[in-house]
Amino acid sequence: MTCAAPTRVIVVDPSAPDPHAIAAAAQVIRAGGLVAFPTETVYGLGANALDAAAVARIFSAKGRPANDPIIAHIANLEQLDTLADNAPAIAHVLARHFWPGPLTLVLLRRPVVPANLSAGRDTVAVRMPAHPVALALIAAAGVPIAAPSANRFSRPSPTTANHVLDDLQGRVDLVLDGGPTLIGVESSVVDLTIDPPALLRPGGVPFEALQSLLPGLVFTPRYLDIDGRGAASPGMLLRHYAPDAPLTMVAGERAAALARLRAEAIAMAGAGHRVGVLAFAEDIEDLADVPAYMAVLGPSADPEQVAARLFAALRELERARVDVILVRDPGRQGLRLAIWDRLVRAAEGRVLNVDRGP
Ligand code: TXA
Ligand code: MG
Repeated sequence: MTCAAPTRVIVVDPSAPDPHAIAAAAQVIRAGGLVAFPTETVYGLGANALDAAAVARIFSAKGRPANDPIIAHIANLEQLDTLADNAPAIAHVLARHFWPGPLTLVLLRRPVVPANLSAGRDTVAVRMPAHPVALALIAAAGVPIAAPSANRFSRPSPTTANHVLDDLQGRVDLVLDGGPTLIGVESSVVDLTIDPPALLRPGGVPFEALQSLLPGLVFTPRYLDIDGRGAASPGMLLRHYAPDAPLTMVAGERAAALARLRAEAIAMAGAGHRVGVLAFAEDIEDLADVPAYMAVLGPSADPEQVAARLFAALRELERARVDVILVRDPGRQGLRLAIWDRLVRAAEGRVLNVDRGP
């Protein structure tokens, strides 16, 4: 269902949102409507998580397949036990360490959780976001808020209110504009209902930090075809973050990878393509003479900056109408694993590894 009225936008102070704005947004949530709001990771498309009809509106506004479950966002720990059945002790340990923050826990669900939120599974994903606007909205609504990233299905996640409007204008009742989000990649999703526990999606909390409290945690990237057969989490669909233009990642030692990226860019431009490069700051000078549009990610030594710019840079390349995109492998340590994951998915598996030879 689309909204009859155009989308309303209210600008809020991200650190101290106006209570009247929050009350108006909470009223929309309680009435079964959709509110897009900032979290510390990306903007979410929120609805009352306990209202199946409101949750259904999220799926149709996004064009999201019904088999992809949605995270319930909470503002206090009491809400965790209203959603999750018998959360194990480790869930509370992780919550104490990382909440509010970019960590989502998959737990057994209670019957109060609508089946469509969980896409028919017997689990529920829960997270307490670390953003004053998100926390104030959930508290004022008085219910957990279901929220996927506020983008159309398979588009890059939104890190500004304008990204939300680009995708969802007229499909969401209200957008709370709290400025750009801080982290820029989504939460880490950890499934505690399986043995060993698994990181389903790397995100804002690094794998290493999670492992220090949960030594048995495993991460097995299993990137699947678009039909998602056998997906542990439907969000592992390979095309999940696909930009309009095909993306290719060049992996390997920096000098060799950069030389290969240059050669690919020159060849593609020669073949008549509009080439875009997601470029690390330290590579810009070496690529200055390459006939390509550069979107700068920041220095590869600063993964926080790269993560914060990643999705905006992908959208910038789309606006520049490039028809192919090249990027150098960011590595996988710390927050880089989440960046790598989003790029490999955007690349749909197209990775050229210069260390492996031709
Ligand atoms: O940072 C974030 O997590 C953002 C902000 C808005 O909180 N939300 C977000 O939601 O990224 P979404 O829907 O774009 O991604 C949620 C991921 C998907 O990969 C989904 O398949 C997975 O979490 N997920 C949700 N519920 C699940 C469940 N019950 N079991 C397994 N995976 C689940
Ligand atoms: Mg998403």
